[in-house]
Amino acid sequence: MAFDIDMIKGVYATMAERVDKAREVVGKPLTLSEKILYNHLWDGTPTKAFVRGKDYVDFAPDRIACQDATAQMALLQFMQAGKPKVAVPTTVHCDHLIQAKEGAEKDLKHANSVSSEVFDFLESVSNKYGIGFWKPGAGIIHQVVLENYAFPGGMMIGTDSHTVNAGGLGMVAIGVGGADAVDVMAGMAWELKFPKLIGVKLTGKLSGWTAPKDVILKVAEILTVKGGTGAIVEYFGPGATAMSCTGKGTICNMGAEIGATTSTFGYDESMERYLRATDRSDVADAANTVKEYLTADPEVYANPEQYFDQVIEINLSELGPLLNGPFTPDLSTEVGAAMTEKAVANEWPLKVEWGLIGSCTNSSYEDLSRAASIAQQALDKNLKTKAEFGINPGSEQVRYTADRDGILQVFEKLDATIFTNACGPCIGQWARYSDPKNAPKNSIVHSFNRNFAKRADGNPNTHAFVASPELTAAIAIAGRLDFNPLTDKLINENGEEVMLDEPTGWELPPKGFEVKENGYLEPLADGSGVNVVVKDDSERLQLLTPFEPIGDTLTGAKLLIKAFGKCTTDHISMAGPWLRFRGHLDNIANNTLIGAVNAFNQKTNFVKNQLTGDYGGVPDVQRAYKAKGIKTVVVGDHNYGEGSSREHAAMQPRHLGVAAVIVKSFARIHETNLKKQGMLGLTFANENDYDLIEEDDTFNFLDLNEFAPDKQLTVEVVHANGSKDTIKLNHTYNDAQIAWYKEGSALNLIKKQNA
Ligand code: F3S
Repeated sequence: MAFDIDMIKGVYATMAERVDKAREVVGKPLTLSEKILYNHLWDGTPTKAFVRGKDYVDFAPDRIACQDATAQMALLQFMQAGKPKVAVPTTVHCDHLIQAKEGAEKDLKHANSVSSEVFDFLESVSNKYGIGFWKPGAGIIHQVVLENYAFPGGMMIGTDSHTVNAGGLGMVAIGVGGADAVDVMAGMAWELKFPKLIGVKLTGKLSGWTAPKDVILKVAEILTVKGGTGAIVEYFGPGATAMSCTGKGTICNMGAEIGATTSTFGYDESMERYLRATDRSDVADAANTVKEYLTADPEVYANPEQYFDQVIEINLSELGPLLNGPFTPDLSTEVGAAMTEKAVANEWPLKVEWGLIGSCTNSSYEDLSRAASIAQQALDKNLKTKAEFGINPGSEQVRYTADRDGILQVFEKLDATIFTNACGPCIGQWARYSDPKNAPKNSIVHSFNRNFAKRADGNPNTHAFVASPELTAAIAIAGRLDFNPLTDKLINENGEEVMLDEPTGWELPPKGFEVKENGYLEPLADGSGVNVVVKDDSERLQLLTPFEPIGDTLTGAKLLIKAFGKCTTDHISMAGPWLRFRGHLDNIANNTLIGAVNAFNQKTNFVKNQLTGDYGGVPDVQRAYKAKGIKTVVVGDHNYGEGSSREHAAMQPRHLGVAAVIVKSFARIHETNLKKQGMLGLTFANENDYDLIEEDDTFNFLDLNEFAPDKQLTVEVVHANGSKDTIKLNHTYNDAQIAWYKEGSALNLIKKQNA
């Protein structure tokens, strides 16, 4: 049902020839990451070596995974492509839209009632276009992918930044925006800058209180939240092979927290064990036939400095348990006295109110069993738990098995709340307070990946610390942030001093995994008859209408906003409460550019309506222009559109009638997203021309009818007093992208080609 063994065998079938050829063109032994990348070139067998960190390369990913929040717009767009089915195996996972409040049963029921419209939409679109659908409660996307779809040597993309989790099973798995996923679903190539490579050599062996989580918390400390940018992190060494597959998943998962493109590990026995335990012996057998291609060439790991751009070495035997935070995942502190000192100096509350275990990062059977071994000691040693416990199992398979094996009952005896197999508190879907903005200062510890302000519960005063599940359990029992389980004693209910023993657990369930209802819906073989229902008056979903081409005449366009300084995709399309409109373009467009600072008054969401002279919010003023059929121009500073790859930041301005975005420089993904939506994304040839733009300006494009690669465009800027400046604009459109512009969008072109 779930995985496609023929597809996997197909990937392995080309591996030897392509990797051997790649070794020849590159001229030296290859890392695992390079082997996977060169085996997934869109053009097939490699003919040249790519420059890391420089060349843009077209790839052919094997799979796509989407979560419910991002899938909405991705699938609405895919519906525009006019294809009967997705071109590569794709799954949708309902995990983000489920709030954690009272416990799994009630919370799931509530989510199914408040978000039924979105879930029904995703289910019917999936059924129609051959997409596997994982129902609400089936599990968290990345755990489900690891258990069902990830395979050594594969390449996947997913519309969620923690798609990288699948590196734990030896994949190159990368988080992307919906627009990229739609391209691949529609049968197009996927472009990526050939990544740089960071090697992390793990020597020694994890033991005692130290867990895989501590490895990535240490790497985050070393590399910081930006240190992995543009790179694949490849782990190797005896410490890597000695670790469980799900532990490797944890490490790869949090590669997102250091900005890495992805992380991966070479195929080893732990992966083989995991594949067999999750009912995929045929994948393990197939992988065994190409084993030497599923890890780096031996010379690479023997002399890593010669082959990686950067090498880090960590001795796991010397690594101790860490606690990272608050407010950033790279601020790491050793447990115990070091934490006491820092917490007192920084006024972090030492009392811990919650210990949360789960999320896509740490919700495997092994994680739950090790945390439960600590929880069991609280029961055996008559300790009263000081903080509350919340548990989010990663999948129904993990939950069912952990329940069968008595693991969840251990937590329940400590009055833990078992939340739905879903993201819950990890994505702010935690109804902890009725008024989070005014909630008190407090500390929590969790085994999740992100701990930015407000991330878990919406309370800016919650200090969230990240730790392994076993340390989270220990700290929750002790109720103190600076509790060191290796040395500190606790007083039990009888007034006796007791210590917690080291955690123990099971890499894999001794009696095997089991599940009754895994929550998966296989799509129809022929979904052509499926009717996708989106109500006309829906607040949350709206079918898309193809964008009209802007055309080769663009004159009389008004300045909408000249953005000052940083303008990220969050400034262009805010998240937070707007998330609920992710599937409704017109509704979410009401947040367009409301975070951008107007260069003329330094205010946000306060721009001049040139038609009336009045000032108003950006979306309102833009809608006023649209009502009169007037196109507009957005002007911006450097690195415009940095941040997430969300396509809404391009679709919303396009929907409202912005025709061109002219900036000093673009964040590349946003620039591509503008091109895909059939807009003009242009840069000032002379960046000082930004200063020429005035509040009442009108733009006349003089040579748009000659739009061609490597040819500047000219725009006449007419100021309020009638004076004019004629300026040159650069662009990076190639022929194919100009064709997108001419058709109105990339999807319009795909549809035309399919017709
Ligand atoms: Fe969900 Fe948190 Fe992972 S939001 S996908 S559990 S990072």
